[in-house]
Amino acid sequence: MIGANGFLGKVLLGMLIDRFPDLKHLHILMRPKGPVPARERFVKDVLGSPALKPVLAKAPAGWSVEKITVLPGDIGEDRCGLSEAAVTSLEGRVDLIVNCAGLVEFFPPVDESFKSNVDGVERVVALAKRLGAKLLHVSTCYVCGPADGVVEETEPVPGFYPRRKGPDDHAFDHRAELVYTRERIRAIRDSGDAAGATADRLTELGRMRSSHWGWVNTYTYAKSIGEQIVVSEPGLDHAIVRPAIVESALHFPFPGWVEGGRTAAPLVLMAMGGLRHWTIRKDAPLEVVPVDFVASSILTVSALLMHGRHEQVYQLGTADVNPLLLEPLVELLHSEARRRQRRPLARPVRIVTAQRARERRVNLQRRIKRAQAVLFAVKKTLEAAGLPGHRPITKIATALRMLDLQSLFREQTLELYQPFILHNSFVFECENIRAAYRQLSPRDRDLLPWTPETIDWRTYWVHHQIDGIEKWVQQEAVKDFTFKV
Ligand SMILES: NC(=O)c1ccc[n+]([C@@H]2O[C@H](COP(=O)([O-])OP(=O)(O)OC[C@H]3O[C@@H](n4cnc5c(N)ncnc54)[C@H](OP(=O)(O)O)[C@@H]3O)[C@@H](O)[C@H]2O)c1
Repeated sequence: MIGANGFLGKVLLGMLIDRFPDLKHLHILMRPKGPVPARERFVKDVLGSPALKPVLAKAPAGWSVEKITVLPGDIGEDRCGLSEAAVTSLEGRVDLIVNCAGLVEFFPPVDESFKSNVDGVERVVALAKRLGAKLLHVSTCYVCGPADGVVEETEPVPGFYPRRKGPDDHAFDHRAELVYTRERIRAIRDSGDAAGATADRLTELGRMRSSHWGWVNTYTYAKSIGEQIVVSEPGLDHAIVRPAIVESALHFPFPGWVEGGRTAAPLVLMAMGGLRHWTIRKDAPLEVVPVDFVASSILTVSALLMHGRHEQVYQLGTADVNPLLLEPLVELLHSEARRRQRRPLARPVRIVTAQRARERRVNLQRRIKRAQAVLFAVKKTLEAAGLPGHRPITKIATALRMLDLQSLFREQTLELYQPFILHNSFVFECENIRAAYRQLSPRDRDLLPWTPETIDWRTYWVHHQIDGIEKWVQQEAVKDFTFKV
């Protein structure tokens, strides 16, 4: 297993231990972090995480931590960072590699995204081949690019690019694309620019290559190339699992468990912070899937893959059986914010165009500037006259500055999410996982649930998402906010 210390990886590992404690042996490949060895990271960050603690506290019969071997490694390096001797010792002893590793940032420098999502996949594929293992690779539904409705899971993977005109369009070849982009990366690195300028140019390169082919960001461009690497490897038994937006746990390890908070968290925190004007596409669903459904599906697909009864691609979304549209969602978030802050009479949500949102921000900025100028003049006058009162003025000035930063942060965040909440409507077809679930015995269906049609979205957003994000993500989000501004 690779990526066990990520949000998804921890829940997957916990579920494996909880539901299948008699598993034979698990090797976990993890990066050391600075001076902290991989094993130490594993003990502290994975076994010690709130996601694993309740599982380990129950110590399921048959389970022992001796069943896990931590291998220090990095999929961005040759042989995934393993020594030749380590690889030799694993040959013929690994049935399945589950690759949950990835860099999920939307617009990082393209070489960083490649390291985990492309070069890393090449190395994992090579490792699987050498070990004689099958490969379950975790990708994302959003490799499809822009969409306006149902996204099928049967679209052929090799040669895919979002602007493809049909099966006879062979314009995209991932190998040619890699030669081109890697050459550009080399040229930028060799240009002798300062580190910051180099990173900016590499970020821009990712932006350009993804938009050239139609992907909405560098992340999905790199993940799609990763998929194409997997499927193009001759003789590799593989399955690709594509979750939509992975969010708080519905039941396992406990309701509301969430970590990292990249996608819904900023939206929830903005709603809780009083955002009233939203730039969304009213009739589009938000394709969210609880992390425990993703983990159980990965285990189901793993079993089918081991038995050679798998499909190539499994999309994991919820909107094809149980859509939650964005308009009722933001209304729900807003009314919940009012309820929690005891402001029942606050004004209702308004859906505005992107242009209107920008105008509002410019207006607000203008008013803040005017207020700051007045405050500055008052402060000077008080000081000159030797009068007290500049302390409260400094406080107001700080509050104004915070308001300015908050509105900038909101605008930037909403802009980043526009492909998912404004420009497109995604409904991911999930027939393959439904068919897989139907093949399970009743006992295994209890162990590995896939029942998105039963989710009560109101309860889920109020009690799992909002409560979960406030409990597990808020502190981190506050740090992130400080960093971003
Ligand atoms: N979260 C979502 O909404 C979502 C949606 C769809 C698909 N996915 C996919 O699901 C997978 C897991 O996502 P996540 O949300 O769990 O992400 P995450 O919390 O950021 O975890 C990513 C994991 O990948 C590991 N990793 C990254 N680069 C690596 C490298 N070069 N060598 C070894 N390990 C490496 C990280 O290890 P370190 O701790 O060492 O960095 C971390 O354990 C990814 O493939 C992602 O693309 C996620």
